[in-house]
Amino acid sequence: MSGNAATVLPLKQIDAFVTLQAHVLEEERHFPGATGTLSWIISALSISAKTIAAKLKRARLEDVLGEIGLENVQGEKQQKLDVIANNVLSQVLQGRQGVGVIGSEEDDELLVIDASDAGGTRYAVYFDPLDGSSNLDVGGSVGTIFSIFRCEPGSEQQLGRGRLQVAAGYVLYGSSTIFVLTTGFGVHMFVLDPAVGAFIRVARNLRIPLAGKSYSVNEANIEGFPPGIQRYLAECRQRGYSSRYAGAMVADVHRVLLKGGIFLYPPTTRSPAGKLRLMYEANPMAMILEQAGGMATTGQQPILDVEPDSLHQRVPVILGSPADVQRLMDISAGV
Ligand code: AHG
Ligand code: MN
Ligand code: MN
Repeated sequence: MSGNAATVLPLKQIDAFVTLQAHVLEEERHFPGATGTLSWIISALSISAKTIAAKLKRARLEDVLGEIGLENVQGEKQQKLDVIANNVLSQVLQGRQGVGVIGSEEDDELLVIDASDAGGTRYAVYFDPLDGSSNLDVGGSVGTIFSIFRCEPGSEQQLGRGRLQVAAGYVLYGSSTIFVLTTGFGVHMFVLDPAVGAFIRVARNLRIPLAGKSYSVNEANIEGFPPGIQRYLAECRQRGYSSRYAGAMVADVHRVLLKGGIFLYPPTTRSPAGKLRLMYEANPMAMILEQAGGMATTGQQPILDVEPDSLHQRVPVILGSPADVQRLMDISAGV
């Protein structure tokens, strides 16, 4: 063994020791004067994710699968685990200083936790506690999605455009538990090491491929899609694209982020605003996609520029590799 070589670890190995916690502290350098409040909230999301992952693993054994017998404010049947995941996130976040407001898919309204302007910066956290929850009964992938805004004193009930998000991310509970995060300085990916109990950084500054070879959409709805989208999908099929659809946005968007291609939940004749919700599904995914070099649009405007009017508002979602999204826009415009 030669003198110096043994003492220098390859970069990849060194990176393997960076936890989500360490990464977030490292990122504080981008925010001069940071008080650590945002890092504290991201750490709350991390412990919530680990708790939810553990509960999901034992769901069948603990008999917490299936519907609870109630509907949420949007008329969707709640699964027991929707409620459990919501409670975990709500309780953990409510225990953290600096959380001013929370807004969840499973709650009717925004919950103002701290409206004071005494204790420094406060944040609003919006989340989809369990995304794709109809996959639970069959052991399929599900996720958690979150979006964080700064909260100005007196504006607790005001919703901001996605462009104002200070952080966004998702957790994919699949064959491994994956945490994807952006605070506006690139997209970074972490995998939960169950032996250690920590999310370990596995990729920095993820970039989406410029173009892909698959589309992800509920094709059973195709007859209700706008004609431009129907033409785009027909062209994809002619060009040999594959179709991939898990029915859980987190799983489908994660594939698109890593492999390229396009994910869409377009307007249909029956649901002109599509199905996905702006504040806790479309906005955070749009921020991640744009940060990774992709595009995210409603078909009319960038998702991040949509002016929200309510917590549970729906928007059409088209996101993915820039070449694929641009091609869909061109075909829709008749180019
Ligand atoms: P949720 O489970 O949070 O209500 O979200 C389900 C969403 C999203 O994950 C997925 O992309 C979409 O619903 C699937 O809808 P379809 O079954 O209509 O394809
Ligand atoms: Mn969802
Ligand atoms: Mn959900």
